[in-house]
Amino acid sequence: MKVTVVGAGYVGLVTAVGLSALGHDVTCLEKDERKLGLINSGKSPIYEKGMEKISIKAGADADLAGSDIILISVGTPTNPDYSQDLSQIESASMEIGKALADSSKFNVVVVRSTVFPGTTEDVVQPIIEKNSSKKAGSGFGIAMMPEFLREGTALDDFSHPDRVVIGIKDEKTREIIGRFLEPFKCTKFFTSIRSSEMIKYASNAFLAARIATINELSEVCEKVGVDIDDVADAIGADARIGNKFLDAGPGFGGSCFPKDVKALISNSERLGLEPAILQSVISANEHHTVRVLEKLEEFDGKEIAVLGLSFKPGTDDVRESPSIKVISKLIERGARVRAYDPQAMENMRKIFPKIRYCIDMDEALSGCDAAIIMQEWDEFRKSASYFKKILGDRPLLDCRRILTSKDAEEAGLSYLCIGRG
Ligand code: UGA
Repeated sequence: MKVTVVGAGYVGLVTAVGLSALGHDVTCLEKDERKLGLINSGKSPIYEKGMEKISIKAGADADLAGSDIILISVGTPTNPDYSQDLSQIESASMEIGKALADSSKFNVVVVRSTVFPGTTEDVVQPIIEKNSSKKAGSGFGIAMMPEFLREGTALDDFSHPDRVVIGIKDEKTREIIGRFLEPFKCTKFFTSIRSSEMIKYASNAFLAARIATINELSEVCEKVGVDIDDVADAIGADARIGNKFLDAGPGFGGSCFPKDVKALISNSERLGLEPAILQSVISANEHHTVRVLEKLEEFDGKEIAVLGLSFKPGTDDVRESPSIKVISKLIERGARVRAYDPQAMENMRKIFPKIRYCIDMDEALSGCDAAIIMQEWDEFRKSASYFKKILGDRPLLDCRRILTSKDAEEAGLSYLCIGRG
């Protein structure tokens, strides 16, 4: 099928690359010259496994009217009051509407950006109808298909989804989307458009709450002399709970969980609700990240090495990374910070231009007064004796339990971690 993806951000690019691999004729419609330059020279503007080299078409214009499917994948940033800034959605809808005015085919417009229930039908659809002078359902199709792509494994998530969710409202659109989604053999949930929009928020809220819960339990485990991973393994074997997303760490970050939970809170409040659980997911997560540093209080004013700057391994994305809070707090307490990350140093340099960035882990650890492992990048998985040799008696705070306590003890390492008593 002929597909245009509007917006070559994270989701748009991964979607475009994934759909091309399935044999669709895909073009990315993107206005940013820098991104266009990179994509058209075969390079990805984002760091993502499997996208080191890409070959997709991209341009500031695209044949929208000739496309069978038009996916809207533009950004929906958060306003200061946590509501969504829909300006990119609105201008994409306007451009699509104008193009569809001259179209002789039944184009299907699919919203892929994360938007609050009601946005596709109350914002996107009327703008397209007004600018095309056509009606949804008869003149063009309208649908909503949320994404469930994790950074770092996004291409694999695209090709092998647990499920596909698609909101539609007319039979013709359902038939076209049914053919479009043929290659995906997973369960497909055809729902109302509003349900699809809500399912995306509900998924991220649930996952964020799950991580906030395991992190809070890790704090209790430390007090009562229990290993959180023993607890996670056993509760995860209960089919009702499941064993994924139970890794306690320094708090969740990224461009999705914090933003989506906050948007859900602000929209729920606007609807007169008091979303107590969602509010505490955010506050517990903030508290948890800061609490991590209580373990290194006596190092105020000293030189601390921070290993891992991205919000999780496998990406160069530092948005809402717990490392930002940790570095800010350390600086506030008078510490000097040196940092190392396999991919994210360039992005972190924009936030903290003055801290020392090291060329590798050895440089970061040599001569520091204490070290913190924030994320479980593979290259941080060294033996306890490696850390002992380089750190001597200076402490290592392991937020991802890369070492076992037994190995750390046997190596004589001064070892602190999250989630073990
Ligand atoms: C998340 C969702 O997992 C995707 O399904 C969704 O499509 C995406 O948001 C989105 O809305 O676009 P992502 O933010 O890329 O994906 O990353 P996750 O793997 O979900 O991790 C989020 C945060 O939780 C990270 O900081 C990670 O370190 C943390 N985390 C995750 C844990 O601390 N423990 C875990 O067990 C899992």
